[in-house]
Amino acid sequence: MTSTTQDQLKRATARAAVETIAPKLEADSIVGVGTGSTANFFIDYLAEIKGRFDGTVASSEASAERLKSHGIPVYDLNSVDGIRVYVDGADETNPALQLIKGGGAALTREKIVAACAEEFVCIADESKWVPVLGSFPLPVEVIPMARSLVARELVKLGGDPVYRQGVVTDNGNVILDVHNLEIMEPVALEEAINNITGVVTNGIFALRPADLLLLGTAAGVKAFSAQ
Ligand code: 5RP
Repeated sequence: MTSTTQDQLKRATARAAVETIAPKLEADSIVGVGTGSTANFFIDYLAEIKGRFDGTVASSEASAERLKSHGIPVYDLNSVDGIRVYVDGADETNPALQLIKGGGAALTREKIVAACAEEFVCIADESKWVPVLGSFPLPVEVIPMARSLVARELVKLGGDPVYRQGVVTDNGNVILDVHNLEIMEPVALEEAINNITGVVTNGIFALRPADLLLLGTAAGVKAFSAQ
């Protein structure tokens, strides 16, 4: 007997995302595209329906390259009127579809694209489903000169920040991964961390949670809507 691998679950949820968004797309629609291994599967399946929408806005240079390799147009966000739907993975999701993102260091552009989207569809395998956010270390993108200042402030909020060595974001900044947070109030913590001087953004997506979660499980892809 074979067991379902995490990659198979990611593929299934990516496929389900394309099937879900396809009927909503029109010739002038722009699709927001996230970053990571699940988003990569989504890009590969999205290529099958290219030509049924105008193009995409990517949340990272890596995703932009993958989209272009399939011949899918990639636009600058400033040159489009809006994004019909944004599809992206997550590192954790709770039942309110509040997320932790940024494992791939693309959190700032992901949050910007999500903020522009009419609809945010999160695609994840079942390992990402948690009752309370915070087991996955929370990524925080920081202006390099403020790294120590921000780290001290994050300690005051109860976390243990760790500098992600060797990583520079697409925006030229660094990442602190904050361990040992039990995020009981995601909106309040998202706002509090964003208010630290030197923080560009943090990986809590609670002010703008997902609207729809497609969760890949061994029993099939399950859909959850925001309450
Ligand atoms: C990148 C992200 C990704 O969506 C998140 O890390 C999940 O990645 P994967 O699909 O590879 O598990 O937030 O910054």
